[in-house]
Amino acid sequence: MEKLITSCWSNFQSVPGNYIFPPESRPGNVKVPFSNSIPVIDLSEAHKGDRTNTIQKIIKAAEEFGFFQVINHGVSVNEMKEAMSVFKEIFQMPEEYKKKLCTNDPSKPCKMFTSSFNYATEKVHLWRDSLRHPCYPLEQWQHLWPENPTTYRECVGNFSNEVKELGSRIMNLISEGLGLKCGYFDNDLTGSMILSVNHYPSCPEPSLTLGMSKHSDPNLITILMQDDVSGLQVLKDGKWIAVEVLPHSFVINIGYALQIISNGKLKSVEHRVVTNSSQGRTTAAFCLAPSDDCTVEPAEAITDEHNPPIFKSFKYKDFISHYFNKYGDTVVLKSFVAPKN
Ligand code: OGA
Ligand code: NI
Repeated sequence: MEKLITSCWSNFQSVPGNYIFPPESRPGNVKVPFSNSIPVIDLSEAHKGDRTNTIQKIIKAAEEFGFFQVINHGVSVNEMKEAMSVFKEIFQMPEEYKKKLCTNDPSKPCKMFTSSFNYATEKVHLWRDSLRHPCYPLEQWQHLWPENPTTYRECVGNFSNEVKELGSRIMNLISEGLGLKCGYFDNDLTGSMILSVNHYPSCPEPSLTLGMSKHSDPNLITILMQDDVSGLQVLKDGKWIAVEVLPHSFVINIGYALQIISNGKLKSVEHRVVTNSSQGRTTAAFCLAPSDDCTVEPAEAITDEHNPPIFKSFKYKDFISHYFNKYGDTVVLKSFVAPKN
C-alpha cells in the first residue's frame, strides 16, 4: 500500500516527480494576496436581536463568495483546542498503528489514506494525508473510530456534537434567509456528517505541489477548523484569494447540495489548499450532508413559473457517486441541470 506522506516527506530534499502539478494548475511563485474580503460573521449578534442583519450577511456572503468565517459561534474554545491537539496527534502516531488505519476496503467507514481516494488512477498525488469517518449520528459510528490516541473517541465525539449543533444553527439562519419554513433542514437533509481530518506536512517546493487541488464540496455546508497555519485559497472572479486564519473561528462554505436546494442562489465555490516550506498544517472539515437516500432538489417554496427549478431531483447517493467519479472536474453540476421546457 502507498506510504503516507507524513511518513516520508522529511527524507525529501525536493518534491518527487509524481507530486509535481502541471504548470497550469500548480500554485507557482505568484503571491496570492490575503484578503479580508471573505466576510467574518459574528454569530452572537443573531441572538442579540440582530437576527435579520446576520441572516442578510450570511446570504450575501454565500451568494458572492460561497464562503464566510464565523466567530462567537458558541462552540467552546477549549473543545476546539483539545480536538485540534488530538487531530495533530493522530498523524504523529507510530507507523504500525497508522498502517492499520489505512485500508483499501471501500466498506470500511473509517480510514486513513494519502492524497485522495483515487491514488491508483490520479496523475499527480496531493501533498496530504487524511483520516475520514462519519460522525453523525454519533451512536452509529463512534465505536468504529480510532482507539488511539485514547482520548480520540470521547474528545472528537463531544466536539462533533457541538459542531453539528452549530451546523443546525447556521442552516436555520440560511433557511430563513432563503424564505423557507423554519426547520426546513432539520430532517434527512442534514442526516449525515462526515469528518475529514487533513494533515499537510511542510513541503520543500510549495510552488509545484498542492495539498488539495481545485474542487467544490458536494455536501450542504462544510464547517472547517484550521490550526494557525494558512493554506486555503478561494477562487473569486477568476483569481485566487487566501483565507486568513482567525483564532477560534470556523470557515464555512457552501456545497453543491445547497446550491441545488437554493436553486442556484447560493454558490458552491471552488477552492484549493497550498503547502508551505516551513510548517505543517492540520485542518478538520466537517461535511454536513443529506442522508444517502434523501431526495435533493430545488426547494418548492422558492420555485414557481417565473423561477423554475434549474436542477433535477435525485437521490443524494447518486449525486455523490457521480461526484467521486468526476472529482476535480468542474462540470459535476452539469449532469443535474434540468432540461429547459
Ligand atoms: C475539504 C477542504 C480545506 C482545508 O476538505 O474539502 O477544502 O484547508 N479542506 O483543509
Ligand atoms: Ni473542500
